[in-house]
This record gives sequence, structure tokens and C-alpha cells, in this order.
Amino acid sequence: MKVEIKYTADGSSTLYLPDLNEQYHSLNGAVTESEHVYLNMGFNYYQKPNPVVFEVGFGTGLNALLTADRAQITKQSVFYMAIENYPLDKAVVEVLDYGRFVPEQGKELFAALHECNWDEPVQVTPYFCLLKIKSDFTGIDWKLPVKFDIVYFDAFGPDKQPDMWTQHIFSRLYEQFLPGGILVTYSAKGEVRRRLKTAGFVTEKLPGPPGKKEMIRAIK
Ligand SMILES: C[S@@+](CC[C@H](N)C(=O)[O-])C[C@H]1O[C@@H](n2cnc3c(N)ncnc32)[C@H](O)[C@@H]1O
Repeated sequence: MKVEIKYTADGSSTLYLPDLNEQYHSLNGAVTESEHVYLNMGFNYYQKPNPVVFEVGFGTGLNALLTADRAQITKQSVFYMAIENYPLDKAVVEVLDYGRFVPEQGKELFAALHECNWDEPVQVTPYFCLLKIKSDFTGIDWKLPVKFDIVYFDAFGPDKQPDMWTQHIFSRLYEQFLPGGILVTYSAKGEVRRRLKTAGFVTEKLPGPPGKKEMIRAIK
């Protein structure tokens, strides 16, 4: 699929898919959005140490990079699983250069995350183990080896990819969570929140990143 680079308001870039008319992150700031939705409202909020994180849509690896950095700073062992059906070309990832937003060894860390083989766990740093799963999330067999503490639900929007946001998916995800586990997503759509509630989650609307009024956090 054709991808274009777009610059966003905080100086970081993101990717745009003309065929889908959708971008990977907010044009109001890619790194700012990722930090707000997934790190501040998700990872930093979660109290239990050494969490298992599952990301829907590894994509550019930005969420993984920021989480690996956070794991290092807080000295927490994180097992991070991320599913992705359309891995990006190395050249595209290099242009994004997200490593420059992480002061300590960011460039090396970002490259290392992308160099990990698919479908095998890799201890990328003493605090961050990454398992990139190359698979279609909508067809996943749900025989996953561990239960989740935190889910970063970062699929393309429900209008663009409705099959990623179905009741069936949220209900299966719920079963895969540990009690007290949390799901965070940039979407604040009423239908997403209703499906999360039907699945069994307690949901809350939180202030969104710049340019977005709200986002959702769901708790098991
Ligand atoms: C909004 S982007 C976010 C990606 C990533 N979290 C990031 O920060 O770059 C959505 C991601 O979901 C991936 N994706 C789309 N359909 C998928 C599917 N059926 N199964 C797994 N991943 C999928 C896309 O390729 C893309 O990388």
C-alpha cells in the first residue's frame, strides 16, 4: 500500500495512507498523542508493576519505543506483544526517525525494535521484551500465551476499519485481560464505548490529546 509522510504539529511526522484516507497518528502531534493516550492515560496510570502490554497495530513502533523508554526509567520489566498485519518498509521507518524523541539511546532503541524478528520474543533491553506478532487481528485464534494488563487499542478508526472494533473482538479481549487490566484508545466514539461496556468493562471518558476532546479508558 502507498504511504506518504506527513508532518505533525509537535515536529514529529506520521504516515498517511491515501487509499484509506487515514493517517497513523493525529496531525496535532504524533508523539504528543502517543504519550498522552498510551503512556500517560495507560501505562503510567496502571499501578501493578511489570505489566504485560498488548498493542493492536504495531505500525511505526512509536508506542513500543515510548513504552520501552518508560520501562527503563521506571525499572519495570515489561512484556510487550504487538500484532501487525502490514509491516512497514525499513526505509519508511528510518525517515520517521522517532528515536530522536527519546534522549537516552533513542535511535539505537528504535532501530532495535524494528530489527526484532517476527513471532519470537526478543529481550530488547533488560527491561523490555518484545513479541511482534505478524498476523491479522480480525482472524486471531485467541490462543495467546499470557493474559494482558494493558491494551493499547491503536487500530485505524472505526469508520475506516469497522472489522477491528466489533463486539466480538472486545468481548474476546475482555476474557484475555487480568482483573484490573486496562484498555486505552484514542477513539471516543459512543459505539466503541457501548461495545466495551457490553463486553464487561467499566469505561470512562478522559480528556483527549491536542485536537481531540475525549478518549476512552476501559477497566476490567
Ligand atoms: C493507527 S495505525 C497505528 C500503528 C501504531 N500503533 C503506531 O503508533 O504507529 C493502525 C495499525 O494497525 C495495523 N493494522 C491494520 N489492520 C490490521 C489487522 N487486520 N491486523 C493487524 N494489524 C492491522 C496497520 O497496519 C497500522 O499499523
